Parts: sequence; C-alpha cells; structure tokens
Amino acid sequence: MTEPRKILVTSALPYANGSIHLGHMVEYIQTDIWARFQRLRGNQCLYVCADDAHGSAIMLRAERQGITPEQLIDNVKREHSADFADFGVAFDNFHSTHAEENRELSRAIYLKLRENGHIATRPVTQYFDPDKQMFLADRFIKGTCPKCGSADQYGDNCEKCGATYAPTELKDPKSAISGATPVLRESEHFFFKLPDFAEMLKGWTRSGALQESVANKIAEWLDAGLQEWDISRDAPYFGFEIPDAPGKYFYVWLDAPIGYMASFKNLCDRRDDLDFDAYWNKDSTAELYHFIGKDIVNFHALFWPAMLEGAGYRKPTALSVHGFLTVDGQKMSKSRGTFIKARTYLDHLNPEYLRYYFAAKLSRHVEDIDLNLEDFVQKVNSDLVGKVVNIASRCAGFIHKGNAGLLVDAQAAPELEAAFRAAAPSIAEAYETRDFGRAMREIMALADRANAWIADKAPWSLAKQDGKADEVQAICAQGIELFRQLAILLKPVLPNLTAAAEAFLNVAPLTWADLDTRLANHQLNAFQPLLTRIEPAKVQTMIDASKEDLAAQAAPEPAGNGELTKAPLAETIDFDTFSKVDLRIALIEKAEFVEGADKLLRLTLDIGDAKRNVFSGIKSAYPEPSQLEGRLTLYVANLAPRKMKFGVSEGMVLAAGPGGSEIHLLSPDSGAKPGQRVM
Ligand code: 2FM
Ligand code: ZN
Repeated sequence: MTEPRKILVTSALPYANGSIHLGHMVEYIQTDIWARFQRLRGNQCLYVCADDAHGSAIMLRAERQGITPEQLIDNVKREHSADFADFGVAFDNFHSTHAEENRELSRAIYLKLRENGHIATRPVTQYFDPDKQMFLADRFIKGTCPKCGSADQYGDNCEKCGATYAPTELKDPKSAISGATPVLRESEHFFFKLPDFAEMLKGWTRSGALQESVANKIAEWLDAGLQEWDISRDAPYFGFEIPDAPGKYFYVWLDAPIGYMASFKNLCDRRDDLDFDAYWNKDSTAELYHFIGKDIVNFHALFWPAMLEGAGYRKPTALSVHGFLTVDGQKMSKSRGTFIKARTYLDHLNPEYLRYYFAAKLSRHVEDIDLNLEDFVQKVNSDLVGKVVNIASRCAGFIHKGNAGLLVDAQAAPELEAAFRAAAPSIAEAYETRDFGRAMREIMALADRANAWIADKAPWSLAKQDGKADEVQAICAQGIELFRQLAILLKPVLPNLTAAAEAFLNVAPLTWADLDTRLANHQLNAFQPLLTRIEPAKVQTMIDASKEDLAAQAAPEPAGNGELTKAPLAETIDFDTFSKVDLRIALIEKAEFVEGADKLLRLTLDIGDAKRNVFSGIKSAYPEPSQLEGRLTLYVANLAPRKMKFGVSEGMVLAAGPGGSEIHLLSPDSGAKPGQRVM
C-alpha cells in the first residue's frame, strides 16, 4: 500500500465586507470536492481558509455602520461560516487574517525579507483627503476622464472609454469618501523587491505548478520585467502595523496569503497530530495547493512564491485557477436577480443541486462557467433524480416487500459490475486532475447502463409471475450494489445524498476502497426518498428574492455615528434629461407588511387618475406602516415596473437619510394634490 499523501489545500480568502454569492461558491465547491476526494482516497487532506479582514474598504464600511472594524468582521465571519457550512464546504479551519497567528507570521516574514535585503523604502506622492485626513486608494477617487471627458470615473480607469491613467491625470478629482477635493501629499512607502526573484519565478512558473494558459500569461509579465511592490499603507488603516514603522501598515494583500499559513497554524495549535513546520519548511514533502480565481493570479503566482522563497519557506506545489461564473450566459446582475447570495440560494434550494451542477461544468481549464437556470433544473432532475436515485428507489421496494430488506448473495450482472470497477481509475484520475465535468459524465454513463440493465430485466414484471421471486431478489440486490458503487463515486460531490444512502444501505461511511467490496447477505434500512426534483418555481422565487435584496439595498447604509454621509455630487445632467423623470405627488392609501419580506413595505398609492402598487425598502424606518396611510409623498411614475417575488413594483417613492431607522419619506407642503406633477 502506498503511504497516504499529506496535502494542504486552500481557497481564496473572502473579503470580510460583503456576503458570499454564487460566484464565490464556484471556488469553494470546487476545492471542497477535491479535498473530499482526497480524504475518500485515504490521504490526509487539510482544507483551510479564513476571512480576509483588513484594508480601508472594511474600515470605512464599519465606520458607516457605526461599529468597530472588529465588530464588523466578527459579524461577517459568522455569516460566512454559516453559508459555507450549509453548502457542505468542510473546512478543517476557517480563521481570520485579523488574528494573532497572522500578526506574528506577517511580522516574522517581513523581518526575514528585510534581513535578506528584499525591502526598500522611498517616498511616494499620492492624493490625500484633507477632510478625512487619509490617503486615497485609486478607487476612492472620482473625477472626469482625461481622455474622453466622461464624468464620475474612478481614479485608475474610465468605464466609458476604457482608458487607464494615474489618478493625478483625472480632471476635477474628488474624494469618493467625503466629496472633498484631494491634495497631493508625500509619504514614505515600503516596497518588496520582487525583481530579486525573477529567475526563481521563471523556473517555478514552468515547473508544472500552473495551468498552461496561466503559465503563458505569467511569462508575458516576467518578460515585460517585474516592478517592486508597494506593501505599505499609511494610517488610518485597518491592518497590522509594520515593525519599526509607526503609522505604517501592511497593505492587505501582504498579510492575506500569509492568512493561509495562519489559519493552518491555528489548526495545528489545536491538534496534536499536526506539525506546522512539516508543511511549511523549505524541505517539506507535503503538498500545498491554492485554488483561486483568474483575477488574483498575479498575487499568487508572483508575489506569494517570492515572499515564501525570500523568507525561507517552501513554495506552493500548484495553483488551481478557475474562471468566473455567468448566469444564463451573462455577468451576474443585481437588477435581473441573477446576483444570487449564497443564503438566498439556500433559502430556496438544496445545496447539493448546485454542487452537482458546478461539478458537471468544471474542468481543469481557466474558462468561465455558466449557470444556465433551465439547464440546471433539467440536468439535476434528469441525472441525480432520474438516473442515480432512481436505481435505488426502483429496487428497494422489492427487497423490503419480498425479502424483509435483506440483500441476497447473488450477482445477477457480473460483467456490468466489473465494468463499474474498471471505470473507477479513470474517474479517480478525472477528480485528481480537477476535470470534474469528465468525472460526472463517466459516472452518469455508468448510471445509464445500470438503468438500462434494470429496465431490460424488468423486476416489476417478474414480480407478478409465479416462481420468479428469487430472480427478482437477485436483480434488485444487483441494482442496489450498483447504486452503492455510484454513491461512492459521487461522494466528494454529494455529501448529504451519500450520507442518506449510507443510512439506507446500513453501512459505515463509504471510502474509495469500498469499490472493491460488495454487499451480500446484508440487511438494508427502510428506504427514504434520497433527493427530490427541483421545482422550477423555486428557482423563480430565488430570483425574485434576489431582486428584493437589491430593493432593500437601495436604501443607503446607516451612518450610525449620526454624521451625515456626504455623497459626492453626481454627474451634471441637462434639463431635458431631468424632465424625462415623471415625478408626481402620491397619496399613500395603504401601507402594509409583505409576508416573507424582511425589508419591504407594500404601498398602495393614489396618483390622481390611477392606483399604483409599490414595494419600498423602508420597513426598518416604519415599523408601524399604518402611520404612513393618508400621507402625501413624492413618486417616480415612469420608472420601468419591476417584477418581484411578491408582485410587480410600479415606480418608486422618494426618501432621504442614511438608512436603518433613519429613512425619511419626502412630503410636499400642504395643499399639494395626488397626481400633480413635481417640477
Ligand atoms: O480577491 C479576494 O477576494 C481576496 N480577498 C482574496 C485573498 S486570497 C489570499 F491571498 F488571501
Ligand atoms: Zn474615458
């Protein structure tokens, strides 16, 4: 027997400032399937992750919510952990980058890099917000594009014409945080001397650690020449202070990948059987894999291996890079309801449906994958319910009725059973190389053969004939054995379905090695339906609920500290554009709660010559909706109607304020009449 492999695997650390959505889930499901496959094969595979908790975005969000960054990241960590657990993502540890282990490791790695001469310092001139007293990252500066003149563009590129530029080239720059005009200011920055590692990286990126297309991209960057990497940010910043540099903090991307190590360290400290050094020392024989999206390849294929090398640690065995998720062929969209949060999905659908669908779509290439909602319903119903579960449900009844649930010792289809076993190595190879789509196709081809064989034998007809009872039992026992084999092959993808199958089969947790055994003279437990079909209506309800999330988000975030959030002024529009908005006075006839909606009120509006139904995300400010009845407000009458789970929302009422309980519905002076146009 070969020695079990020692494997450490990670997924990218999600930012602690937002919810997990289905785009994220591609990677966590992909990694989890791979890790479960390794464990099923008897290898030691540890899967660690953490929240990526640092940076100015998190600091500013906490400030807007009136809480500390520590409180924000605690709340988010709870939410993320629950989302992952409910999707069956079995981390050995889910930690945070804002943790003691990470502080110590980041410090130690930095000091080692400094000692080895890989850190430089020099002054950098950058935009500074005089109101907020902070330096502004490019995405916190907005202004007019220097190339095409479009207003309201970010500090580094124009969304209208695609130009890229330095923030200092923007015309009329404004801080997106305070609205103030930024000023240029100089400060000392710390740099990691990436060019010191050019030769090492040329070798490493061609060592088989990267998919070919990724290695080619990296080669282009290496040929173009590497730049030193700015790893410091000035206070105020939420992160770790740089040793011997008061007021300077590590840039979030410096300590984020070290978070992989820190999460593992935290696990080792709780487990006697694990030795941190055995995984991270330069001469470690353990395997280390990082699963990431294509947008963060530079951090993982350049900076990270260079940091590890420079500080005397081992480098990753390989990266596994995947593409993005599209829904129905398009980028996920909030207004179409296809920007689906993990929790919204879980509220409506079984996680195993999505685990299977993603598995069926994933390959070892960096291609984007598409969640086609119609195909999703069709494929899951046809493959999992129609093929796999069907085998067990067709056979179980006869065994329970005809033989009190006891599987007889007979092999009615030895060749077919042998074909199943013969297919296993190819399926294992597909899992190992992350070609899950191929693994699923090969497994479903086996399920098709099993179903065709059972259909041909038709135990349901034999059961009606005299003297065929033994034959029926032999056929059905064979069917159950084939089902058991399929359950093993699918176990990395469908942990819940397999657990239910194990309970029905009355067996200990199945392993890959159990493919070489067979059940005979074995008592089954009662058969419970293992998986039900996806009802298409539930998919629609999930889409509608995602639109509701958006409507609720339309209300601004509460400032919490009572400060008015000064949003920078939007792009100037001409009068014709403004007059396209049909603003009316509306009388709120009825205001009521919406069953099943956390954030919405349903308003029935009288707009003079017509009634309108509007869903508005203002429930948090009006816990007693009836207080709104009889009140006049301002109403956008010509906004395109939006179909939501609860009905169609026709237009929008206007409110101001930071959000939460601080939302104020606008009202005209007395004397205004419903239906009057507002100008
Ligand atoms: O892109 C992101 O979402 C980052 N939070 C990923 C960090 S991965 C690792 F390096 F920590
Ligand atoms: Zn432009």
